[in-house]
Amino acid sequence: MEITNVMEYEAIAKQKLPKMAFDYYASGAEDQWTLKENREAFSRILFRPRILIDVSRIDMTTTVLGFKISMPIMVAPTAFQKMAHPEGEYATARAASAAGTIMTLSSWATSSVEEVASTGPGIRFFQLYVYKDRNVVAQLVRRAERAGFKAIALTVDTPRLGRRESDIKNRFVLPPHLTLKNFEGLDLGKMDMSNDSGLASYVAGQIDRTLSWKDVKWLQTITSMPILVKGVLTAEDTHLAVQAGAAGIIVSNHGARQLDYVPATISALEEVVKAARGRLPVFLDGGVRRGTDVFKALALGASGIFIGRPVVYSLAAEGERGVRKVLQMLRDEFELTMALSGCTSLKDINRNHILTEADRLNPSSITARL
Ligand code: FNR
Repeated sequence: MEITNVMEYEAIAKQKLPKMAFDYYASGAEDQWTLKENREAFSRILFRPRILIDVSRIDMTTTVLGFKISMPIMVAPTAFQKMAHPEGEYATARAASAAGTIMTLSSWATSSVEEVASTGPGIRFFQLYVYKDRNVVAQLVRRAERAGFKAIALTVDTPRLGRRESDIKNRFVLPPHLTLKNFEGLDLGKMDMSNDSGLASYVAGQIDRTLSWKDVKWLQTITSMPILVKGVLTAEDTHLAVQAGAAGIIVSNHGARQLDYVPATISALEEVVKAARGRLPVFLDGGVRRGTDVFKALALGASGIFIGRPVVYSLAAEGERGVRKVLQMLRDEFELTMALSGCTSLKDINRNHILTEADRLNPSSITARL
């Protein structure tokens, strides 16, 4: 049967993948309240469409950190993509490049920065986990820069791994034929079996829990790549990110895999956008599955969004073709949402095109804005 939306790939991935792999991709932390909320919060935002506007031409192009891309829809870093499909990160890199958008490669990719760069041209960001051994970090950042990566997405919500209960039950480890390829030469490429999630044990052993704002400054001394801080959910931390010299912020709750009962990212977005006061661009990831979701994020002030699970699920189902299709479906839906809302370019999308729960509780706030 024809696939008509991004969400349909999840069931196919579930059928195709071993339980340990699917559960790793799908799970959220603990009660998985935030996992559900990342979707549900989008469904509580409604539209205020404008009519009788010529929408025969629609321009979805945008610029991210100075790089021109075809649409404000980008690929988030997700680890271990070869567990989904033998071509893993290669397939994702090619699909993102074909769609004219940015791929973010995970530190924990099953393909190295050099291998991904060898797939051909494309604008790519590198997601960084900071290891206790700073020489390892410095080497890796240098390798990413040399391989042509354009920015660092520094993940700041993972001093320890969130408690993902299916990974604990499954005693999750990477299949033996795969490694954390970027760390292979550094003797940190293997994840041992443990009495827990193997990944949680790996993180406890290797990842630096002392990471703090001063390290954002330290990173700037070892690279000239701009730094996106990934995992900001509050106004307070937005101010600190600006002070620390971040080039941008990604409002993210790690796909609901870290602290459970944080708000949906779409609910936290406006607070961050207001605190940023245009000093740096704000992006969002978490639960984006429809073109309407992309539009809602942009109406609340995001400069673009990233998708995580739809990439791994479509990869599992159909490899590169699946990821291309996911990006195309989201693009088509987003274009349609723009047309039906009366927007012909991204700058036309504004706060008055949507109605949030808070707006509905306080209708005078809407008239005040008009
Ligand atoms: C992730 N995420 C993630 N983030 C990161 O900074 N480094 C990583 O290696 C990973 N790995 C990873 C694996 C899997 C299977 C998932 C689902 C997520 C988080 C990711 O970048 C992003 O924040 C979320 O996936 C966005 O939410 P959605 O689109 O999955 O709902």
